[in-house]
Amino acid sequence: MKLVFVLVSSLCLLSKADEISNRRFPDDFLIGVASASYQIEGAWNEDGKGENIWDRFTHDDPSRIADKSTGDIACDSYHLYKEDVALIKAVGLDFYRFSISWSRILPTGYADSVNIAGVNYYKNLIKELKDNGIEPMPALYHWDLPQPLQEIGGWLNETIVDIFADYAKLCYQLFGDDIKTWITINEPKQVCLAGYEGGGFAPGIVSPGVGVYNCAYNLIKAHAKAFHIYDEEFRPKQNGRISMIIDAVWYEPGSDSDADKEAAERDVIFLFGLYADPIFKGNWPQVVIDRIAMRSKGEGLEKSRLPEFTPEEQTYIAGTADFLALNHYTTHMVNASTVEPEFGGPSFGKDINVIEWDLDNWETAGAGWFKIVPWGFRKLLVWLYNYYQTEIFVTENGLSDFNGTMTDDHRITFLQTYLTALLQAIYEDGVNVTGYTYWSIIDDWEWTGGFTSKMGFYAVDFNSTERTRTPRKSADYFTNVMKTRCLVDSCV
Ligand SMILES: *[C@@H]1O[C@H](CO)[C@@H](O)[C@H](O)[C@H]1NC(C)=O
Ligand SMILES: *[C@@H]1O[C@H](CO)[C@@H](O)[C@H](O)[C@H]1NC(C)=O
Ligand SMILES: *[C@@H]1O[C@H](CO)[C@@H](O)[C@H](O)[C@H]1NC(C)=O
Ligand SMILES: *[C@@H]1O[C@H](CO)[C@@H](O)[C@H](O)[C@H]1NC(C)=O
Ligand SMILES: *[C@@H]1O[C@H](CO)[C@@H](O)[C@H](O)[C@H]1NC(C)=O
Repeated sequence: MKLVFVLVSSLCLLSKADEISNRRFPDDFLIGVASASYQIEGAWNEDGKGENIWDRFTHDDPSRIADKSTGDIACDSYHLYKEDVALIKAVGLDFYRFSISWSRILPTGYADSVNIAGVNYYKNLIKELKDNGIEPMPALYHWDLPQPLQEIGGWLNETIVDIFADYAKLCYQLFGDDIKTWITINEPKQVCLAGYEGGGFAPGIVSPGVGVYNCAYNLIKAHAKAFHIYDEEFRPKQNGRISMIIDAVWYEPGSDSDADKEAAERDVIFLFGLYADPIFKGNWPQVVIDRIAMRSKGEGLEKSRLPEFTPEEQTYIAGTADFLALNHYTTHMVNASTVEPEFGGPSFGKDINVIEWDLDNWETAGAGWFKIVPWGFRKLLVWLYNYYQTEIFVTENGLSDFNGTMTDDHRITFLQTYLTALLQAIYEDGVNVTGYTYWSIIDDWEWTGGFTSKMGFYAVDFNSTERTRTPRKSADYFTNVMKTRCLVDSCV
């Protein structure tokens, strides 16, 4: 009976999302594209840049990457950034979200040794954007920690809080007069969970049930300090906004039962709320505190594996985001687990204790985990808005495929259905979404996917030394969307 209900309700949602919205984007709604330093710049050891943890991770063991590639050259955007800006302008986009390579500016990671060539690269990029009427939106940290800082423990060493704050302050000083929106850190979940729990991402540390929380604890404090420095010393004259980007999957309950609904919500809270609750509300979510305390006790530990924020820290951290910056790609189904896992070695998965699965009829274009579920996007926006009661800016969304076809009708359909879900959230559900960011303007180096995962409006020929960029059909489609602010041929 329940199963029948699930299928019927999902089918309704699917057919609803199949209707492409003919409403226009609100007038002040901003649309742009995003990238990250390690994924596009290349020039990994040029002009004084220091080594970072992704340089080390890829050089140490190429088998970590699907095609054994590295970001040594990537899209060569360090040299070709003017071409990138020209493409962003050609599509008519409002802003460009990029990231600053910490070790390009500070080769050792510490603010006492500035690499002028690195500073000039970002000054030139920002100037090129502004000259072309494109708003620059930099992130201070998109995963590429300077390697010398990893040698002292990386995000597990509490001194990273002050070291990051010094770097942030320098960036506000150097670039802040031209910046209206700052991002401190992109996707802490990937930094801490992929980096320090399972080790699938740099720095590749395997410390289940422990590393992820210690990383999150220091990372959130580093973010908060960077926020306060901006807020107190720079905002009064530079007048910008600042936030941390957090990525979220939508977890749909596997049935209408209270147990499944509770499990799905717990999954969102463990994976998103772990980072968002402290910066919006001041502390870890209660269900996270309770479950890790319970599991730690069962494991015979005297203290919870989750570090505690002191009352002073809670006050300091609360409210350190001017808006909710959201990266979103996919949805999974969630069932409650009927058994509590044995109290052996700890892990993040045991702390959450849910069963994730996917519906058979969900499509995917590239990696198997990446299901195309537009209605999940809408439900996520509604849930986040109700829970955090704050403006939402979508800082990443996009479609990966493996064949890189130039006639990418599936990408156009993806954009139409996901952006319809976004417009429905705005117009039908009253969610305050103020911006959308497509990942990415050009194909890039997709972390452990290497060059196999194609996501660009423009293809890049990674076999040519010129790294030639060529528009896909989606580039033309989106150029028209930017002109008409409409997803179909004509809008109401
Ligand atoms: C999840 O629950 C649904 C309905 O209660 C059931 O049909 C499905 O098999 C379950 N899936 C998993 C992976 O446990
Ligand atoms: C943490 O970093 C400091 C330098 O900032 C260093 O002196 C200390 O040894 C590091 N701690 C650990 C545990 O590596
Ligand atoms: C490439 O992959 C996409 C997504 O799976 C598919 O829709 C498209 O038909 C494929 N195109 C070619 C030329 O293989
Ligand atoms: C959305 O949030 C922004 C920033 O807080 C605010 O200026 C705007 O009025 C809000 N819009 C709606 C429709 O609530
Ligand atoms: C380079 O070209 C070869 C042969 O056409 C192709 O198999 C390979 O995928 C290309 N490499 C990249 C990174 O595009």
